[in-house]
Amino acid sequence: MSTEKKVRAILIGAGNRGTNYATLAKESCPEFELVAIADGNHVRRDYVQQMHGVPDEACYDDFHELLAKPRMADLAIIATQDKLHFEPAMMAIEQGYHIMLEKPVAPTPWECVQIAEAANKKGVFVCVCHVLRFSPFFRMIKKLIDEGRIGDIVQIMFAERVGNAHMSHSYVRGNWRNSETSSPIILAKNCHDMDMLQWLIGKKCTKVQSFGELTFFNREHMPEGAPEFCVQGCPAADSCPYDARRIYLQDRMFTEHATNKKNPTDEDILRAITETNYGRCVFQCDNNVADHQVVNLEYEGGTTVSFNMCAFNTGGRHIRIMGTKGEIVGEMGDDSVRFFDFYTRDAVRIKSSDMFTEEELDGGHGGGDRGIIRTFCDYITGNYHGNSLTPIDTSIESHLIAFAAEESRLNHTVIDMKEYKQRFLDEQK
Ligand SMILES: NC(=O)c1ccc[n+]([C@@H]2O[C@H](COP(=O)([O-])OP(=O)(O)OC[C@H]3O[C@@H](n4cnc5c(N)ncnc54)[C@H](O)[C@@H]3O)[C@@H](O)[C@H]2O)c1
Repeated sequence: MSTEKKVRAILIGAGNRGTNYATLAKESCPEFELVAIADGNHVRRDYVQQMHGVPDEACYDDFHELLAKPRMADLAIIATQDKLHFEPAMMAIEQGYHIMLEKPVAPTPWECVQIAEAANKKGVFVCVCHVLRFSPFFRMIKKLIDEGRIGDIVQIMFAERVGNAHMSHSYVRGNWRNSETSSPIILAKNCHDMDMLQWLIGKKCTKVQSFGELTFFNREHMPEGAPEFCVQGCPAADSCPYDARRIYLQDRMFTEHATNKKNPTDEDILRAITETNYGRCVFQCDNNVADHQVVNLEYEGGTTVSFNMCAFNTGGRHIRIMGTKGEIVGEMGDDSVRFFDFYTRDAVRIKSSDMFTEEELDGGHGGGDRGIIRTFCDYITGNYHGNSLTPIDTSIESHLIAFAAEESRLNHTVIDMKEYKQRFLDEQK
């Protein structure tokens, strides 16, 4: 890796994701130089400013101010909330920045397509943060497939088990609870999975069908006498897995996210569950996103996929890939896969360390978030030789699959992807 060329970057949105990338860049990318930040939340902005020594005059409250200035860096990291991706992305493209854009690209198909068109026209690289592509687990699976170890992929069973507590935090109480204010869960959460399927299969999706709904986290399941906030004394608190005092105060789950603070105190947490959505009864929120959904997909060449997203489990991704010569089965948390060869009848467990050198794993590519920022720096310095960075057109393909799945779920239809794209392009004319 060359350390001569600097990678100058600006950060738009210094929230959880923005701070995370800033921290990882500090740790793993000596060539990374943060030159400006935009975020009106001064606590968060100050934290990143101090970490990278950004001068006061290069800190802005709003991305409009920063992006009105002439281009000052190679890279713009855009980590604002879902509905605030389109505008900064279009402005940054216009200025000629390469972009690391948080997923989802945008909450509507048309905005997604516009971003891709603008990026292609300007000749800038817009990479969506599909961090799973950088995890040792999926890189290992991709390598096994690319080496032809399982022959042609015939079918995949893929499950994204959201985890019941994570569901309650992010998709019932939290930022991604309502598709009107963020995006449908199949886009917000599962655009990663749609991207992963496309990456592994390497062919276009032809048909999509989906079922699912919000079954449990609604007023129908509210315990009798439950107050609006758990701290108000709920008669069901002792047996409710979603009691906010238990999740946040006792078990200390998701506390930094709920309080917007590093190492929050009991007082901070109590304030969050008394005054913000994170303390609400999960059966009385304004959530509307599905808590379970299945998607059936057909790809060119007849490969079929069944994909499951469900809230009611401990969490984690599971995949079973069935090919003409063998099968791969993996549990993401294990960081290993079981490979079964039909000819030799050998079933072996393969770990990422069996497939990658220590340098490949430790050279910044080991983890998802760290991997993407490290790799993006390599891209800008001309040292990128991998296959993990997602080109914007590829991300748009997988986003459109997620939008089609949502349409299918709502309208009970099977969607032909070619017709869907054409219809949607015609509608925009
Ligand atoms: N790639 C992944 O795996 C992954 C995981 C989680 C979240 N995300 C996505 O990352 C994005 C950010 O999520 P987050 O949890 O960090 O959100 P967040 O709310 O913690 O951070 C967003 C930040 O944007 C700032 N902001 C708001 N308006 C602004 C403006 N006009 N100009 C500049 N800054 C502004 C806010 O003050 C906030 O600090 C979301 O789109 C989310 O869906 C991606």
